[in-house]
Amino acid sequence: MNKRVLVTGGAGYIGSHTTVELIKAGYEVIVVDNLSNSDRAVMKGIEQITGISPRFIEADCCDREAMRRIFEEHDFQSVIHFAAFKAVGESVAEPLKYYRNNLVSLLNVVELMVEYKRRNIVFSSSATVYGDADTLPVTELTPRKPATSPYGNTKQMSEDVLRDTAAACDGFASIALRYFNPIGAHPSALIGELPRGVPNNLVPYITQTAAGIRERLSIFGDDYPTADGSCLRDYIDIVDLARAHVVAIERMIEHRNQKRYEVFNVGTGKPVSVFELVHCFEEANNLKLNYAVAPRRAGDVTAVWADTTLANNTLGWHAERELADTLRAAWQWEKSVRGIE
Ligand code: UD1
Repeated sequence: MNKRVLVTGGAGYIGSHTTVELIKAGYEVIVVDNLSNSDRAVMKGIEQITGISPRFIEADCCDREAMRRIFEEHDFQSVIHFAAFKAVGESVAEPLKYYRNNLVSLLNVVELMVEYKRRNIVFSSSATVYGDADTLPVTELTPRKPATSPYGNTKQMSEDVLRDTAAACDGFASIALRYFNPIGAHPSALIGELPRGVPNNLVPYITQTAAGIRERLSIFGDDYPTADGSCLRDYIDIVDLARAHVVAIERMIEHRNQKRYEVFNVGTGKPVSVFELVHCFEEANNLKLNYAVAPRRAGDVTAVWADTTLANNTLGWHAERELADTLRAAWQWEKSVRGIE
């Protein structure tokens, strides 16, 4: 069994945690990353946690010749493709940047996989493909809605590329994992999320506010039709999410995926409101957060959370960590980055 995996975007937030879990499960990992939104020091953190320094190649997945050299020189059978841009607002302002980066990198990887007969790919998809769903929780059969951002559209288009390629090529298999809201950090506090500039996402904004880098958290809307008026999301611990990739790769290596293109929701199945998350953060870390209600943010859906039955039953995967533990890890990580005691 070939237990070598190419991880694109392996120095990023989800990629680095997945690399750690792959190494722990006995895989040999080759990381390729262009460091456009990550730091080389992350590789040190991975080594400190696992005792193993994975091979690191600085390359851009959009650079077809650089990618070809990687396929020439390494005989991995499996790829986990994380490398992509992910800021929703930026994608609306600069759509071509998103279409080029996210689609060209995927097309390069998939074309090379077919050419070099590498079978398995796990793809980073997103709950964004469901948009403002008519029924909740969403299952994998819930119809996708027209994407509301170029970012979301690249996720839908990428899923389609993988589905159609699997249908056409016998030696090709793919699993798309639809992430809900990944949060937290490795419990060692050696790796975590490193947003550049002002964070777009809730938890990094919270931890930076607690660290005094941001003055106040804005809660985007308290007039949604939910119990406390704030939006509901499904916050999934980053280590739980990383483990889902390991079982997805295992499933494909062992050829248990008869359909060769599969989609799984990766969430906890529990809706949590913005207020609940903030209060849980305060209690778990025994601190008070400066926050205020602000107007709704354009493009936010009221609620989305996962039905995880398929991942639970088919992958044998379950989210395990409690939200409070995840939020403690997020704060530990922020403190370690900022040198706070
Ligand atoms: C968004 C995208 C998702 C993408 C993810 C990662 C959509 C619908 N969702 O998720 O596809 O994968 O980002 O970039 O496109 N909030 C505040 N104050 C803040 C920040 C956030 O109140 O300062 C609220 C938001 O209104 C939302 C919740 O917190 O209700 C979560 O927001 P966020 O962390 O940005 O994730 P999503 O928007 O759910």
